[in-house]
Amino acid sequence: MFSVTADWGSLSLRMLKTTLIQATRAGAAEIIRFFNNDFKISNKEGVNNLVTEADHAAEKAILAVIKSQFPDHQVLAEESGKLIQDSGYKWIIDPIDGTVNFAHGIPLNCVSIGIEYNGEIIMGAVYNPHMNEFYFAEKGKGATLNDKPIRVSKETEVIKACLVTGFPYTYINMPNGPLDVFERFIRKGVPVRRLGSAAIDLCWVAAGRFDGFYEHKLEPWDSAAGFLIVEEAGGKVTDHQGNKFSVYQHRVLATNGKIHDEMVAVINNQKEL
Ligand code: IPD
Ligand code: CA
Ligand code: CA
Repeated sequence: MFSVTADWGSLSLRMLKTTLIQATRAGAAEIIRFFNNDFKISNKEGVNNLVTEADHAAEKAILAVIKSQFPDHQVLAEESGKLIQDSGYKWIIDPIDGTVNFAHGIPLNCVSIGIEYNGEIIMGAVYNPHMNEFYFAEKGKGATLNDKPIRVSKETEVIKACLVTGFPYTYINMPNGPLDVFERFIRKGVPVRRLGSAAIDLCWVAAGRFDGFYEHKLEPWDSAAGFLIVEEAGGKVTDHQGNKFSVYQHRVLATNGKIHDEMVAVINNQKEL
């Protein structure tokens, strides 16, 4: 049976889910096709902010699937920008999250697609084809990794946590900026990893591998899917002040919920670890 929620529009959620999975897999097939092969690389803003032929090919494959099913939906895609139409649905697409890893043959990169309906993220998928890890969440229905439910970790203290972060391509000089916060954790011996894919970072918080993730300059396509996957796995996502998160703001803090307030205090230099 179709499950249709009036608040999320008149579309069948099952159709949305099927298309989301197909689009994500179509993008991932392009990642695999190009990975460790020859591809053209060019630069965006910032010295190492790369875009490859594979990013464009993956985005094209993703858009073809979405447009074949939902030609009137809005799209916000990293490489081709916005398609504004008269629809409450918006597909927010990162064809390859972790492009620098991809360009260096590092198998930590993925497709990330979130679906927004009237300003709310209602579905998200992240797929790392190199590890065959498919993360999915639907609002109110939990999060899964390869169809099995996932939950965030149970850690209650930041000093015992395993964290992950990322750094922007162009450094942001500001109080409590990326290196200040990183230094605060590292000086106290808290492990802070840096994988190079924000979408994977968020999913690994959802899967309980990391207790928390923060970053200072994410874009909507980096966080749209992962944000919902963390929340549906029982975690919490806010800005760095602990306020309600929107994918249109840059600063993200995602945790298991239990260490969230302490993370806010350390990030804002209001508490020493
Ligand atoms: C980047 C990755 C990285 C994060 C950057 C993002 P891209 O996305 O998610 O982990 O630190 O801020 O821009 O460029 O690989 O799609
Ligand atoms: Ca990205
Ligand atoms: Ca990207």
